[in-house]
Amino acid sequence: MAKKLIVGNWKMHTSVAEAELLAERLTGQIKPKDGVEVVLCPPAISLSTVKSLIEGKFSLGIQNVYQVDEGAYTGEVSAEMVRGLVDYAIVGHSERRIHFGERDGMIAHKVAACLRHDIAPILCVGEKIADRVEGHAKRVIGDQLAVDLGGVTPDEIERVVIAYEPVWAIGTGEFAKPHDVEVMVRYIRAAIKEAYSAAAGKNIKLLYGGSVDPDNARSYLEVDGVDGLLVGGASINYAKFASIVDKAG
Ligand code: PGA
Repeated sequence: MAKKLIVGNWKMHTSVAEAELLAERLTGQIKPKDGVEVVLCPPAISLSTVKSLIEGKFSLGIQNVYQVDEGAYTGEVSAEMVRGLVDYAIVGHSERRIHFGERDGMIAHKVAACLRHDIAPILCVGEKIADRVEGHAKRVIGDQLAVDLGGVTPDEIERVVIAYEPVWAIGTGEFAKPHDVEVMVRYIRAAIKEAYSAAAGKNIKLLYGGSVDPDNARSYLEVDGVDGLLVGGASINYAKFASIVDKAG
C-alpha cells in the first residue's frame, strides 16, 4: 500500500529558535512508521535548521516558491535555491491566492519550477463557500486543475501531490464532511485520469486539508482515495500533530 503523507504547514509561525524547539519535540514524539511519511514545512528562514534536526526521519517542504530561477525579485525564494534542501513545496495555497493575488497561470509556472528542480509540488486546490453553495465546486476545482497542471507532462504527473482544501474549511474550525471530501477526491482522480491516464488517476497522491485535528483526522484518512493530510493550525502543536500522525499508521 502507498505510504500515507502527513504534511505540517507551520505557516508564518515560529522564530528560528521556536522552529528548532518544535522540530526537536516532534522528532522526540513521533516514532517512524513504515507506512507514513511526515513532511514538515517550517518558514523558509528555518528550513536549514529544521533539516539538520529531522534528516533521515521526516521530509522537508517549503511553503511557497517563486517560479523564476533567479533575478531581481526582492524577497522571493526560488525553487532552484532550495533544490536539494527540500523534498516538497506547497504551491497555490489558498492564502497565497487570497492575500498575494496568485492566479492559476502563475501557479502553473510554480508547479513547473518545482518539477524542473526535483521538488515534488503539493498543489492546493479548493472552492470558496459561495462556489459550494451555488453548486459550482467541481467546476472551480476542474478549472484550477486544468490551468495549474497545464504544463505537466504524463511523465511528471505522478510526482505532483494534490491537496484538496476547501477554502471555507481552512483555519476556520469548519469541518468538511468526509462524504463531501470523498466526492471531490473522486472527481479530482477522474479529472487526472481523463487528462493523463487511468494509472495516473489511480496513483497520484491526494491529500485533504482544512481544520484537520486529532479528533477528525481518522475520518478523513478513512475516506476512499485520500492518501494523507495537509495540516495547518494543529501542526504547530507537537502533541496534536504527533497524535494526527499516529492515526495514519
Ligand atoms: P488548517 O490549515 O489546518 O489550519 O485549517 C490547513 C492549511 O492551510 O493547509
